[in-house]
Parts: sequence; structure tokens; C-alpha cells
Amino acid sequence: MQKNNLNKPIGVFDSGFGGLTILKEIVKEMPEYDYLYLGDNARAPYGSRSFETVYEYTLECVRHLFSMGCELVILACNTASAKALRTIQQRDLPAIDSTKRVLGVIRPTAEVVGNYSKTRNVGVLATPGTVSSESYLVEIKKCYPDLLVYQEACPMWVPLIENNEQYSPGADYFIKKNIDNLINKQPNIDTVVLGCTHYPLIEEKIKSYLPKNIHLLSQGAIIAKSLKDYLIRHPEIDGKCSKTGRVNFFTTDLPETFDKAAGSFYGKVIFSKHLNL
Ligand code: DGL
Repeated sequence: MQKNNLNKPIGVFDSGFGGLTILKEIVKEMPEYDYLYLGDNARAPYGSRSFETVYEYTLECVRHLFSMGCELVILACNTASAKALRTIQQRDLPAIDSTKRVLGVIRPTAEVVGNYSKTRNVGVLATPGTVSSESYLVEIKKCYPDLLVYQEACPMWVPLIENNEQYSPGADYFIKKNIDNLINKQPNIDTVVLGCTHYPLIEEKIKSYLPKNIHLLSQGAIIAKSLKDYLIRHPEIDGKCSKTGRVNFFTTDLPETFDKAAGSFYGKVIFSKHLNL
């Protein structure tokens, strides 16, 4: 892929469709910027893969986004943020290009979660990879030492969504099962983080199985606001981002398949291109 110096989009990366729920909110908040979305659908889901594999796949995709002109890449995927972000920031970026930036979605979410909880008991629903990394436990503790955090891994949710089976009766079985498990761990939970960017697609179903008093925290608007603040605080990065309002989509799998499902995540018709890794 040729680097086009005039076009410096903000890269938004996910294992598949989930990052579109984040991109949608970012574009709503900052429509003037250019964006380049990359979904690694050919290798999704990442949620049950090892640290090494998620790191390797994520780094490969980040390198592609850099080669396509991105100066700033958002890992709009909790699993990649949990398993790859720190190594990429600390070890790879200095070697690749220390002026480029890669940001994740876990820290900005952890920074606000304490604002919503009265009981100081919060739940996190996420992929097995995000849960086992304990990134949410660590980041939330740093921001709110008094919060008690309970996690539940939901291994079936992303595969159901990636396969467009989220509305089938089978999906309800798995959604209810994981929510019941979480609430049984601590019935006083009053705030639940959707710690996977795919989950907004089943938000209504999740709500229907959660006790009514629980505040459900979805990441899109949080990440959009946090990115906006970041660009205000970092004019040297902001100045490098092109602003012509273009959004381009790439998938490592079949564009026709991507486009068919992507609309429900992004809320608009999408025409993607194939990217060969
Ligand atoms: N959207 C990814 C996340 O936020 C899903 C990971 C997966 O591919 O399983 O964790």
C-alpha cells in the first residue's frame, strides 16, 4: 500500500466489526477528521487467543495502518488493548517511529467508571482474553482504589455477533448465562462495563437480562470524548491528522461479507476494500 502524504487518517483497528461501534461515535464527535478503519475479520475472534498471537496480529495491523499514512492508531478492541497495547507502546513504537502514537480503550473507560457507581461494586463483561489479562482490574484500581471489580468472561458473545447469530434464540441462552454469573458474584453491582466493542450490538438483550437498577456503560461515547481531549492536549499529533471528513474501511476478509454485516454496527451502509496482510 502506497503512503499518501496528503492523507493522514486516524487509524481505528479491531479484530472485526466491534471497533465500528467506537468509530461511529468518534466520527459523530469529530466529523472533520479523516479515518481509516481496519477489521481483521479473517482472524477474528481474538478473544480466546494467546497473548503472543493477539500481540503479533495487532502489531501487524498497526504497521499496515502506519504504512497507509496513519500517525495515530486507536486499538478499538479491548482484547488488543489488554494484550498488545503496552508492548507496542513501550517496545515497538520507539523502534518503528517514536513520533507515532497508539492508544487503547481500556484506560479511558476505567477513568470514568467510578463516576457511575454508588455501591462501589462494578462489573465488567468482556472476552476471556481481556478478563484473564486483568487489565480492567489494574486500571480501575489505579483510578478508583475503593472500587470492587467483578469480571465475567463471555467466550460465546463475539462468535455469535461475528456470525450474525445475535438475534437467534441460542444467543439468549449464552447472554443470560453470563449475566446471571456476574450478578451471582456480587448482587450489589450497580454499574456494568461493556468491556468489548462488539457488545453494543447486543446492548438491548444485555439490558433485558440485567436488573433494572444497573447502569450499563458502553464505550463509544467515552472513547470519542477521550480522543477529542487527547488531541486538544497534543497539538503536535493533532496537527499531523488530515481533516477532510473522509472515512475508509478495510477488512482482511471478504469485503462483501463485511459490508453486509457492518451496517448494523456502524449505522450506515459501508463499502469496504480488502487488505492483504
Ligand atoms: N471487539 C473486541 C474487543 O473489544 C473483540 C475481541 C474478539 O475478537 O474476540 O475485545
